Amino acid sequence: METDPQAICAQLNALAADASLLAPGNLAGREEALGLVEWAEALVRLRKWEDLAALRRRAGSLRRQLAQVDRALFDQVRAGIRSGALRGEALRARLDPFTRYRRGERGQVHAGYDALDRLVEGVLRLGRPPTAQRALDREMIQLELTPARAVLELVDSVPLGPGDLFLDLGSGLGQVTILVHLLTGARARGIEREPAYCQFARERAAELRLKGVEFLNLDARAADYGEANVAFMFAPFTGSILREVLDRLERETRARRLVVCSYGPSTATVAAQPWLRPLGPTAAHPYALATFASGESLDADS
Ligand SMILES: C[S@@+](CC[C@H](N)C(=O)[O-])C[C@H]1O[C@@H](n2cnc3c(N)ncnc32)[C@H](O)[C@@H]1O
Repeated sequence: METDPQAICAQLNALAADASLLAPGNLAGREEALGLVEWAEALVRLRKWEDLAALRRRAGSLRRQLAQVDRALFDQVRAGIRSGALRGEALRARLDPFTRYRRGERGQVHAGYDALDRLVEGVLRLGRPPTAQRALDREMIQLELTPARAVLELVDSVPLGPGDLFLDLGSGLGQVTILVHLLTGARARGIEREPAYCQFARERAAELRLKGVEFLNLDARAADYGEANVAFMFAPFTGSILREVLDRLERETRARRLVVCSYGPSTATVAAQPWLRPLGPTAAHPYALATFASGESLDADS
């Protein structure tokens, strides 16, 4: 990275003159530009350059300008969701341009985040997650968000609609639960042991006036799975807790067919369950979305 103040100032000036950064869809470009702004501000702070007032001002004004474009984009998508106009395919058409994932590309490795995650964070207002109130017990995994493009792959891979109940076991800030509901119309239930995350997720859903979404502040071992027919987990726990939850899910299959989707390190244990069969092609990588169904091997479109 550049460390010469004049060169950085010239780069910031070039960014300020770059009209493409003001195009609402260029979220990724703005994120990259903000990286330079942050770098400039950090250097000013660290080196206490007194003659760098101009650099500080330039960085600050560019930051404000870019943040304003982002805010307008987030507010517009948010308003569409709140009004009920942006659902299903209409919402999907707004999301797709922000990610490299393309519909039907199964088995991709979704490591790291992209501009779609920035969009989802801004639209759902996930930016200030609360501090956890409870310590994690052994075998419980802390909060980390599923990349949004893995959720797009999930809704592309699993037939879901208003007659279904989707479960996110260890739902964190609630964005998987909310997105699945918005994109498919399925009822969606997040189960989260941490009260602060659960409350945060409830507030995000209430602000968007979502009726088909709920969050239960419970341990996944004790929660009511209701009539759930699709369950998702992003490595919420390991070892005996994971085994206990999988045993509970297996018991649910006595009443109905169950689809289990997994992302992250828990996938290997899920894949080893004798009562589950791969639903469509699966990649062996832990950060590829893996989908399974109870009973016979089935295609996603059957
Ligand atoms: C890796 S995060 C995944 C969050 C969310 N599903 C997502 O993908 O964005 C795991 C979450 O599981 C929660 N968790 C851990 N143990 C749990 C348990 N026994 N019951 C319910 N939630 C649990 C953690 O608090 C954390 O929010």
